[in-house]
Amino acid sequence: MNKALFDPVAAHYDSWYDTELGSVSDQVERHLAQSMFKAPGPKVLEIGCGTGQYTSWLVQEGYEVTAIDISGEMMDLAQKKIAALQETTPQTKPVHWWHADITEILDQLETYDGIFSMTAFEFVPEPEKVLQKLFNHLKPGGCLLIGLIAGESAWSDYYEEAVRRKPDSVFARAALYTKEEISSWQIGAPAEIGECLFFPPNIQTAAEALLLEKKREGNPGFVVAKWTKG
Ligand SMILES: C[S@@+](CC[C@H](N)C(=O)[O-])C[C@H]1O[C@@H](n2cnc3c(N)ncnc32)[C@H](O)[C@@H]1O
Repeated sequence: MNKALFDPVAAHYDSWYDTELGSVSDQVERHLAQSMFKAPGPKVLEIGCGTGQYTSWLVQEGYEVTAIDISGEMMDLAQKKIAALQETTPQTKPVHWWHADITEILDQLETYDGIFSMTAFEFVPEPEKVLQKLFNHLKPGGCLLIGLIAGESAWSDYYEEAVRRKPDSVFARAALYTKEEISSWQIGAPAEIGECLFFPPNIQTAAEALLLEKKREGNPGFVVAKWTKG
C-alpha cells in the first residue's frame, strides 16, 4: 500500500461523522463491533487506528492499547484525540503508538488478549494471510475482530461510483469482500459473523435509516468478523 494514501485525507476524515449519514452509519457499525469485541485481558492491538475513532473507546474500556497505523497524519490526529481524553480522564492507560505497515511488522508483534481493526483490512493486501499470522499472536481465549465494508452491497456500489467520479479516491485502493468470502477465510477458528448497514447510502434521514436497519433486508453494507482462540 502507498504509505501516504490516507495522509491527504486525514484533516477531513472526521468530518464524515458530522454528517447525518456518517453519524447513523457509525452508530450501527460501532454498536455491532463494540458488542462483539470481548478481550479476556487488558492487552489489545488496534490495526489501522486512523484518527482514533475506536482507540478512544478501547482506552475508555480500560484496555492497554498498542495502536498501529501506516499513515503518520492519521496517527497524529489520533494522538491528539487521546491526549485530550487523557487530560479529562487521567486514569486511562497510555497508548503505545506504532507508525508502521502491519504487513511489515508481523514478526515483531507480541501476544495480545484482543486484536481489533475497523475499516482497515480493505486496504491490506492478502488479508487472509495477514489475519492467519495475527491469529498466532493471540493469547488463549483472545479474539481477533475486524470490521469491513461488504462487497456486493449498496455501499460497495457507492464506493465504486465514488472511484469513477474521483479516481484518486482512497477507495480506488480498497478490496471489498462479501460476507461469504470473509466467512470462508481459514484463520484458525470458525468465524463469527455480524452484519449491519442494511440501509443504502442514498437514504434521506437517520430515522429512515434506522427503520431499515431494524428490518435487516438485503445484503449488509458492513460485516464484522471475529475469530476466537480456543
Ligand atoms: C478507513 S481508515 C479507518 C480508521 C479507523 N479504524 C476508523 O474506523 O475510523 C483506514 C486506516 O487504516 C490504515 N491502514 C491501511 N493499511 C494499513 C496497513 N497496511 N498497516 C497499518 N495501517 C493501515 C490507514 O492508514 C487508515 O488510517
